[in-house]
Amino acid sequence: MNALAELRSRFAQALSEFTPDPATFAAMVRPTQDAKFGDFQANFAMPLAKQLGKNPCELAAEIVGKLDVAGLCQPLEVAGPGFINIRLKDNWLTEQTNRSVADARLGVEPVAKPKRIVIDYSAPNVAKPMHVGHLRSTVLGNALYRVAKFLGHHVQGDNHIGDWGTQFGMILFGYKNFLDRAAFESAPVTELARQYRLVSQLSGYHDAKAEKPKAETRLARLETELATAEANKPANDKSAEKALKKQRSDLNEVREQVASLKKQIEVIESSPSLRPLAEVHPRIAELSRLETAKLHAGDEENTRLWNQFVPQCLAAIQGIYDRLDIRFDMTCGESFYNPMLADVVAEFQSKGLASESDGAICVFIPGNAAPFIVRKRDGAFTYATSDLATIRYRVNELQADTMLYVVDTRQSEHFRLLFETAKLWGYGDRELVHVNFGTILGKDNKPYKTRSGDTIGLESLLDAAVAKALQIVNENDDRKPEGRELSDDARATVAETVGIGAIKYADLRHNRESDYVYDEDKMLATTGDTATYMQYAYARVAGIFRRGGINRETLRNSGGRVLFTHPSERALSLQLLRLSEALDGVLAENRPNILTDYLFATANTFSTFYQECTVLKEPDDAIRASRLLLCDLTARVIATGLDLLGIKTCEQM
Ligand code: ARG
Repeated sequence: MNALAELRSRFAQALSEFTPDPATFAAMVRPTQDAKFGDFQANFAMPLAKQLGKNPCELAAEIVGKLDVAGLCQPLEVAGPGFINIRLKDNWLTEQTNRSVADARLGVEPVAKPKRIVIDYSAPNVAKPMHVGHLRSTVLGNALYRVAKFLGHHVQGDNHIGDWGTQFGMILFGYKNFLDRAAFESAPVTELARQYRLVSQLSGYHDAKAEKPKAETRLARLETELATAEANKPANDKSAEKALKKQRSDLNEVREQVASLKKQIEVIESSPSLRPLAEVHPRIAELSRLETAKLHAGDEENTRLWNQFVPQCLAAIQGIYDRLDIRFDMTCGESFYNPMLADVVAEFQSKGLASESDGAICVFIPGNAAPFIVRKRDGAFTYATSDLATIRYRVNELQADTMLYVVDTRQSEHFRLLFETAKLWGYGDRELVHVNFGTILGKDNKPYKTRSGDTIGLESLLDAAVAKALQIVNENDDRKPEGRELSDDARATVAETVGIGAIKYADLRHNRESDYVYDEDKMLATTGDTATYMQYAYARVAGIFRRGGINRETLRNSGGRVLFTHPSERALSLQLLRLSEALDGVLAENRPNILTDYLFATANTFSTFYQECTVLKEPDDAIRASRLLLCDLTARVIATGLDLLGIKTCEQM
């Protein structure tokens, strides 16, 4: 049970006599940071008293008088300027813990009113191999999916793949012009990926050539402006100093841009194989777009090739999903919605929600300068059109109440306009949420790239983490006092679990809106807030049972009860009880890091308990059984929590 939610609801009841907005004040009941103030603390008395013109201490006492928590809490205590300290009754807490011990769901009740939630996640553009940029959506989305499902919601995980966009035009162009037939026969996806890269490099070259003179002019202008400003800078003028700083940083940005354009051009021009290709194909970008347009228009050859490529690309991506243990309920990508797009636009037009502007069909959203374009001037439908069709489908066919879009923050504007448009369209009663996230950075604090500037392939990222994990597992196993315990095969399996777990956990433990630096050493550290630490914590508990020759199943059914004889048993019980609160928290804010924080705290609380309380060597049978039950529950909470994050555990490491 979610004790915090229970307390809040009881406080809300008492508070309803004092305010029309009891929920807001009840939300000020929070877990304490310091156990000396109890388990939870309420600090609403101060703001509420201010509103009511009362004395906060008296008000707190008055509310406590109305509160019905007799079975749950020890007598409440009003402290300081009106804090209410709340301590759960020991017998209530042991009762809950004993229930969790006997419960496959570890005391987490399913929600009373399940929602129909569609989680739109991963969603790579499939014409190119998956890269580091796809990691966050995949991992975050899957964690939310698992948690929502565990809590009893009806969840559909939908991989809204990009299988219809400009990238396909690029590989179609590449296939027709540059294909290495033998390479394609032996490894089609690798060859298609090479085509994609080649076409994007060549068209990038022509873009860079067009852009370079403009950027150089800009650079020259900024240089002159800066020199003038520096020459005329008044002494000791803070705001002039600040303006100069800004000018310098703008200048640097353009300087970097020019450098990168030069490099892009240089790479092609210095290459004996690429240079002639670039010369022969000056219109490559335009012609690739034409290939996409032909595909969309139903061109026979392009449709045939598309039908051949998509399954091949998907199969390659599936390899990564298998390794990451990610499954979807449906994979309805952009192409799936293609047949519905004309109708969507017609509906917007007939309802008077969209109008023509400069040849394009646009939805004008009141209060927004930018229109939402649903059909371009050349007749092509857009990402926006297909997302609108997707919403209609999810409402009509899947009866979705809630749609979560786990997509990069850089698409915020798209989703803002999409959701506004959906509201105009009549879907205002559905909950549409952009679960946005930041960028994965390299150690240089820039988006993570290889030294040559390519995005990092996901496959190689996984391989590298697993290789590093294997080293750690080997060292750890070699160091064991009685010699190694794991066979080579077992070590390899553990390394895969540890390596993949580390990558996922490192991603999930950050606040999703923040960027973070991808750091293999840190994510695989055996101490600190890492999956590796959690996995070792789990294996250590499993080891207690192995050493004691105790079957955990039997233990649970042996009639032993959790009892408190030491403060750290109580602290651990309370922490284990809070799993439910953590999971509710994850879904309330779509933040898996609430669960990683919880698990880290749980491992630490367990560690204290294990230092302070003897377990296997405890002479008193009842206390020994109680402590073993706490160990077992801890292990299950950690394994379940990690599993809900998509992370596996090993019994022995
Ligand atoms: N394929 C898109 C991309 O890679 C993400 C799609 C997200 N989902 C959506 N319904 N728009 O940028």
